[in-house]
Amino acid sequence: MKTDSELVLVTGGLGYIGSHTSVLLLEKGHEVLIVDDLSNSSPEVLDAIAKITGKTPFFETVDLKNQVGVTQLFDDYPNIKGILHFAASKAVGESVQKPIEYYQNNINSLLNVMAAIKTKTNLVFSSSCTVYGQADQLPIAEDCPTKRPESPYGNTKKIGEELLEDATKVHSSLNVMSLRYFNPVGAHPSALIGENPKDIPQNLVPYITQSALGKIAPLTVYGNDYPTPDGTCIRDYIHVMDLANAHILALEYLEQNKSAAHLEIVNLGTGTGHSVMEVIESFKRVSKQNFQYSIGPKREGDITAAYASIEKAKNLLKWEPQHTLDDALASAWKWEQKNHKDNQN
Ligand SMILES: NC(=O)c1ccc[n+]([C@@H]2O[C@H](COP(=O)([O-])OP(=O)(O)OC[C@H]3O[C@@H](n4cnc5c(N)ncnc54)[C@H](O)[C@@H]3O)[C@@H](O)[C@H]2O)c1
Repeated sequence: MKTDSELVLVTGGLGYIGSHTSVLLLEKGHEVLIVDDLSNSSPEVLDAIAKITGKTPFFETVDLKNQVGVTQLFDDYPNIKGILHFAASKAVGESVQKPIEYYQNNINSLLNVMAAIKTKTNLVFSSSCTVYGQADQLPIAEDCPTKRPESPYGNTKKIGEELLEDATKVHSSLNVMSLRYFNPVGAHPSALIGENPKDIPQNLVPYITQSALGKIAPLTVYGNDYPTPDGTCIRDYIHVMDLANAHILALEYLEQNKSAAHLEIVNLGTGTGHSVMEVIESFKRVSKQNFQYSIGPKREGDITAAYASIEKAKNLLKWEPQHTLDDALASAWKWEQKNHKDNQN
């Protein structure tokens, strides 16, 4: 046994959302065990977390696809009381090219973690609004029917929820909440951690900030003839610090409602949709950059509009987003500039 403290296990805790959530957990006084295989992150994130919080979490490099490694992890740390399961491969486009790898990683990792749980454990699963597809109603509430997601990545989230739903019915040790994120953006105010994709960003905000620095080609906006006020697609952009805070509240909720024998599903967005053009305008406003972009053809599979109903998160978790789109773009820009400067030194 490596510690007799009660721990919160954060899988994928050196990644974008996991690192921000680990910071908040440590600041709230939790003992944290981060597990990551570094497939989309780097050890420097651990140093940054320690620098922000003044605390060093436990850390293990484990590939969660490896069942032996996961079993060993739970043997070494028998006092895991809560799990935030972020670890997954998340690039939608890549998942279309590599479906087997995506199912292998996202499904096997989840199954291995579920199988290793022996004592009563609260688990929060990172799901996504992709499970709704082009929803029939806006804003999208949790009871809106799910659809077969367009990509293998999206389907791993839908299957993950189904696995958890089946398991919670019979395994009383599992107390689970699935959080369906809309579009996480922004960075920690210190600019020591933020979204740092290893490849060309697939998400709009890191694409904007990286292209503004000339690191990648100028942005192409995919289509401006959608049936929306300015013709560009609408999404619900939620600040990563708000998202991180919701995870702490989700864990506390599960702690206080130990008997739930069903999978609780909660949307996390802001409840407001913003178009691609509005995001670009927000970036120009906060960065004071003369941002260059072009309009291209529509991209296959893109849905017109998606934004959340967040009534359930407000009622159940007593949570409400605190940051605006401008806050998110300003923090993302600060992070991108600092990250770029550090990499040049
Ligand atoms: N960022 C988004 O836009 C978004 C939206 C909806 C849902 N999600 C989900 O939220 C979670 C976190 O997303 P993120 O943006 O922080 O992604 P990320 O890639 O930054 O973080 C995921 C982390 O998991 C690690 N990881 C991947 N496979 C692993 C494995 N087999 N074993 C151990 N570690 C592994 C990676 O190295 C990485 O550090 C993911 O499950 C993702 O699917 C993200």
